[in-house]
Amino acid sequence: MVWSLQTAPALSDQEFDQWNKLLEERTGVQVLPQQRAFLQTQIGMRMRELGLESYNHYYEQVVGGLQGIVEWSILVDRLVVKETSFFRHRASIDYVRRLLQSRIDNKSLDDSFEVWSVGCSTGEEPYSLAMVVNDCFELAGLDPYYGITATDISQPALQYARQGIYNERKIEPLALDERARYTQTLGDGRFQISDKLRDRICFSHGNVLNIAQMPMAKMDVIYCQNLLVYFRRWRRREILNEMITRLKPGGVLVIGLGEIVDWDPSGMTRVTDDGIQAYIRS
Ligand SMILES: C[S@@+](CC[C@H](N)C(=O)[O-])C[C@H]1O[C@@H](n2cnc3c(N)ncnc32)[C@H](O)[C@@H]1O
Repeated sequence: MVWSLQTAPALSDQEFDQWNKLLEERTGVQVLPQQRAFLQTQIGMRMRELGLESYNHYYEQVVGGLQGIVEWSILVDRLVVKETSFFRHRASIDYVRRLLQSRIDNKSLDDSFEVWSVGCSTGEEPYSLAMVVNDCFELAGLDPYYGITATDISQPALQYARQGIYNERKIEPLALDERARYTQTLGDGRFQISDKLRDRICFSHGNVLNIAQMPMAKMDVIYCQNLLVYFRRWRRREILNEMITRLKPGGVLVIGLGEIVDWDPSGMTRVTDDGIQAYIRS
């Protein structure tokens, strides 16, 4: 039978461990034993595209030389979960809105307002953040500098995000006035995020395992949800400890509810709001 018509060969225990180890070393993401079929299907599909039949042979290609770097950037996009949506966790985004609004009301804003969306996937999260930030400034009649930095490990996801084009189903979570103010119809059932928001967002490649090498600094908000859940607990702690060094005094870290427990870093105070998990830097 022709290889392209066959299903992927079964991953042996040793092969599963080898691929899982590579993925975790390079991204932090852990594939659980019950997700073995997912790993097998994704790697198998890529092998089929390349006409390869042996997991070992493909592994050698992925870890070897310059070609390996290119191949890894294709494969990693297939192995990470990129599920996301606009206003995925409204309570957390509304918290960012209230935070900024209170700074505007108290006249305690700096010259700029900087937000970092970590693990931004296809862009719905940073665009949602840009909408609430823009709302606050527009309502207050202010036009200060604000910017959103959005990073992810997947290059294809970032490319998609930069275009800011979504179909009707994707933009369903937007309220009608949000749609009217922040999207324009392309006339073919798709909508593009308005230029005024797209111009505010810088999408760039970034691996959270390398935060120490990232230039981000002096953030007002670091927003990181549904990424650390795929990591071991000790690694979540390490990453969060590094992230909070990038906050301004008074800056806020917002993570997904329950994504870390027993984490009490010095200089950070947990926000007392039941529906969210956020920390303010003193
Ligand atoms: C499930 S999505 C979450 C998207 C968005 N934050 C949300 O909550 O809707 C997880 C994202 O994390 C990214 N990711 C996984 N490992 C990463 C790493 N080591 N560094 C940066 N991004 C990573 C994936 O590419 C994916 O886009």
